[in-house]
Amino acid sequence: MQTITTIQQLRNALDPVRRVGRSIGLVPTMGYLHEGHARLVTTARAQNDEVVVSIFVNPLQFGPNEDFAQYPRDLRHDEQLLASLGCDIVFAPSVDEIYPEPAVTLVDLPAMSQVLCGRTRPIHFRGVATVVSKLLHIVQPDKAYFGQKDGQQLAIIRRMVQDLNFPVEIVGVPTVREPDGLAKSSRNIYLSQLERSHATVLYRALQAAVADVAAGQISAAMVIANMAALISAEPEVRLDYAEVVNAQTLQPMDRLSGSIMMAVAAYVGKTRLIDNVLLELPPLDSPNVP
Ligand code: PAJ
Repeated sequence: MQTITTIQQLRNALDPVRRVGRSIGLVPTMGYLHEGHARLVTTARAQNDEVVVSIFVNPLQFGPNEDFAQYPRDLRHDEQLLASLGCDIVFAPSVDEIYPEPAVTLVDLPAMSQVLCGRTRPIHFRGVATVVSKLLHIVQPDKAYFGQKDGQQLAIIRRMVQDLNFPVEIVGVPTVREPDGLAKSSRNIYLSQLERSHATVLYRALQAAVADVAAGQISAAMVIANMAALISAEPEVRLDYAEVVNAQTLQPMDRLSGSIMMAVAAYVGKTRLIDNVLLELPPLDSPNVP
């Protein structure tokens, strides 16, 4: 495994790989890797000849009051983990390498970036879409891997790739969880022991929503109210949102049908956590819908 820090060196390393027809898988990350990231890498390893993992804490996707400077970083640990997972190339550029000048060209999908997490993080998904566009152009992978954990991000990237005809297949990887259901996240380290015990309410609320739907509930408002009540009742936890949206378009719906994403966000102490689950329901006009 080699660690590369410049775009030119990366192109020099990948051009011959591409020329002999070997497939390339890209896993974009911001580092401080945990088992969630590892699942993306092992999935990429199984499906490609060459695996590239990028580690870049992207300033463009952090708001002025967010944790860009404090975002946890540990390149040595990440390199050890990635070597053990069979990664071939770690691409760890500096901010100057990716943004030698302030970005003037931005990629934005306003209809999808201003909903859900976009309401509290208005510039976040523009920063994500812009940096992922750049990484896809720099690496030119056959496949790129993203976690369902960040469901809005995955939907936005799928749509961006479709709208802008990127020649890449986007692969979504299921959320990796702690044994008690909490989704693994680099931000979980911010939680105190007490906060950690309350943080499971996000997953419990989503499971309650799955049970509601399994019991025949098709009113989005009822499912949402139940999730919101559970999260709001939890000590140390402040609800940001509980929503049910179309999984592809991220738009809200009244009667649940088709591919849906149930998504929640909450502050546990000062730490903002998100989670979601996907469900496939019969389409609205199906004879199976009561
Ligand atoms: P980061 O938060 O480091 O996450 C990198 C990838 O790991 C994302 O696709 C994310 O969804 C996935 N991931 C994180 N936790 C996971 C879990 N518990 N289970 C499964 N997958 C998980 O997301 C970003 O970085 C950035 O926004 C990025 C796409 C790299 C653009 O800067």
